[in-house]
Amino acid sequence: MEVPAELSVLEMYPEYAQTVSLDELRAQEYSRLDATRHAYLDYTGGGLYAESQVSEHNLLLRKGLFGNPHSRNPTSQATTDLVERARAKVLEFFQASPDEYVAIFTANASTALKLVGESYPFTAGDHYLLTFDNHNSVNGIREYARARQAEISYVPVNLPEMRVDESVLETQWKLARAGGHNLFAYPAQSNFSGVQHPLGWIARAQEAGWDVLLDAAAFVATNRLDLSVYKPDYVTLSFYKMFGYPTGIGCLLARREALRKLHRPWFAGGTITVASVQGDRYFMADGAPGFEDGTLDYLSIPGVEIGLRHLERAGLDTIHTRCRCLTGWLIEQLLLLRHADGQPLVRLYGPANTEHRGGTLTMNFYDAAGRVIDHRSVEENASRHGISLRTGCFCNPGGGEVALELSRTELLGCFNQPVVEEKHAFTVDDFRLCIDGKSTGAVRVSLGVASNFEDVRRFVEFARGLLIVGG
Ligand SMILES: Cc1ncc(COP(=O)(O)O)c(C=O)c1O
Repeated sequence: MEVPAELSVLEMYPEYAQTVSLDELRAQEYSRLDATRHAYLDYTGGGLYAESQVSEHNLLLRKGLFGNPHSRNPTSQATTDLVERARAKVLEFFQASPDEYVAIFTANASTALKLVGESYPFTAGDHYLLTFDNHNSVNGIREYARARQAEISYVPVNLPEMRVDESVLETQWKLARAGGHNLFAYPAQSNFSGVQHPLGWIARAQEAGWDVLLDAAAFVATNRLDLSVYKPDYVTLSFYKMFGYPTGIGCLLARREALRKLHRPWFAGGTITVASVQGDRYFMADGAPGFEDGTLDYLSIPGVEIGLRHLERAGLDTIHTRCRCLTGWLIEQLLLLRHADGQPLVRLYGPANTEHRGGTLTMNFYDAAGRVIDHRSVEENASRHGISLRTGCFCNPGGGEVALELSRTELLGCFNQPVVEEKHAFTVDDFRLCIDGKSTGAVRVSLGVASNFEDVRRFVEFARGLLIVGG
């Protein structure tokens, strides 16, 4: 069967026609994709930059004189102005009032998450609650909670859609310690399944006595996050995932009130008003500076403003619509691929429609005998076809364990072997051997600003080829 032409996307989703401006944008700004005939399908790993972002940034640097901020000399002041402009732009982009939110520049989403983890005032009996499908940098906060004897609870996600049973979540919310510190963390969009958990949870959890940490890293490149409507206490993200360039800059958006609750475990250059050696005292700076250790990446930060303006010009709603239409078409086509006996080629982990999900699709491929095709060989094969996709568990072990149906008993059996205790080490290969016969990972494709029909068509054709390889 021939893969239907672009027309079939339009038949399924007439609104796709309203996104043609993105084809023009691709031709102008991302022509290197077509020049190299490359199908880039890893936007959740990292976004792609437009040519004009790089040239605008380059021009700014070539023309300007920028010194280290934190001083009053002209070159220092020029830098401070640019950094503060970028900060204001971040708040404006997310419709966050500067009276209500503070934008703290970090190296990436993980460092933003670490700032929350190390500074949140957990004590014995407090709670850290999180969904199973969090990125490891959110999971890692549990070690700060554990060190301070706080309770740690996970809310599972369930197959096949990999969503949370809200009754379980509500039961957990009721366990908030009155007068204590209760932190609830979840991804606005899972980087494993593409599931978009309800933003309505934020206010409900807060009413139940929780501070809410929303990991928006996989959400904000293709979805609007309006902080004048939804008001999480802490929001974390990496800008390269939104617009590709610059790398090395992320952000913690914190409600001013919630920020006051955080107590940094140390001080550094830039984070204090006064520190004394002989007096053995230090006084933290108020607001964002108290959380920005040392010298910011001040030459890259102006690239954030440029990137946000680029996304605005491209139109976040248009990008959202395009990714939704292409995702819907892709899901339908992949699920149609069958072996001769009718067995499906693809097992999708996550919603099989476009409801409350983003353009991130995770799956495994099965051969005619029903055996999983190793995800690493799928990636190698895709690379040979000029397709960039990602495989593994994407730093989202909870998502992986649910999707691949690895039980707690099985996992504990692996980790508690005497040899592991002895070595104090456990490699991916040890893990693979231990769960012999089961897959240790999956294949992920993800869409973004420059995705077009040809990209998804090529992936479907590639997948169709696996029917033969696998058969
Ligand atoms: C949902 C989510 N959270 C956090 C991160 C961590 O981002 P970074 O590696 O930029 O710190 C990622 C990265 O893939 C992610 O997808």
